[in-house]
Amino acid sequence: MLGRFIVAEGIEGVGKTTQLALMRAYLEQAGCQVVVTREPGGTALGEAIRHLLLGHRHDDMALTTETLLMFAARAEHLEQVIRPALARGDWVLCDRFTEATYAYQGGGRGLSLERIAALETWVQGQLCPDLTLLFDLPVEVGLTRAGKRGPADRFEKEDKEFFERVRAAYLKRASQYPDRYWIVDANQPVEAVWSEVESLLAAMTS
Ligand SMILES: Nc1ncnc2c1ncn2[C@@H]1O[C@H](COP(=O)(O)OP(=O)(O)OP(=O)(O)O)[C@@H](O)[C@H]1O
Ligand SMILES: [Mg+2]
Repeated sequence: MLGRFIVAEGIEGVGKTTQLALMRAYLEQAGCQVVVTREPGGTALGEAIRHLLLGHRHDDMALTTETLLMFAARAEHLEQVIRPALARGDWVLCDRFTEATYAYQGGGRGLSLERIAALETWVQGQLCPDLTLLFDLPVEVGLTRAGKRGPADRFEKEDKEFFERVRAAYLKRASQYPDRYWIVDANQPVEAVWSEVESLLAAMTS
């Protein structure tokens, strides 16, 4: 069976990484070749760019710079990892992708969505994920879960209002593109979230 390109999205602490690990195990059990990767990152150069974006050495980076770095990492990721994997027929599970740029740099920071769309077209061409899972929960719950994990990165240090805007932007995009977005209620125990995700994967692999 030909692989699919699935992305996990949502604000910090919604359980993206947790659910992606379960998805990998499920698909491998079903005999699929799976590549699990993340953004920003996923290649040596992309991880170096991630370090610049999430670290605190360049806290006052311009929004244009931040957005171009996201897409620079994405260009490398597509070229070196995502396109080759899909061409082999592998499944690609990606922890954040372009919807995160719409939500964070667009919704969160106020960059025009047209600018993002222009970069999306340039960098991705026709390539678009088959499915984006939007793990959604109240901002306080996500930040509390993420906060237990260690020092805040350059995005995590933003205030609650920032994450409210990011969450709202994700939900708006999901309602605009219902054929390629699936909203998962992430405010439930891990097993309950997984059972929703598992049903989706079961439908995609049957
Ligand atoms: N459904 C859940 N209920 C309670 N805790 C959860 C749930 N899912 C994940 N967690 C816990 O919350 C924390 C954050 O989960 P996880 O790292 O998977 O989220 P994330 O979306 O990848 O976060 P980030 O965006 O910061 O990478 C972890 O400690 C994880 O064990
Ligand atoms: Mg994570």
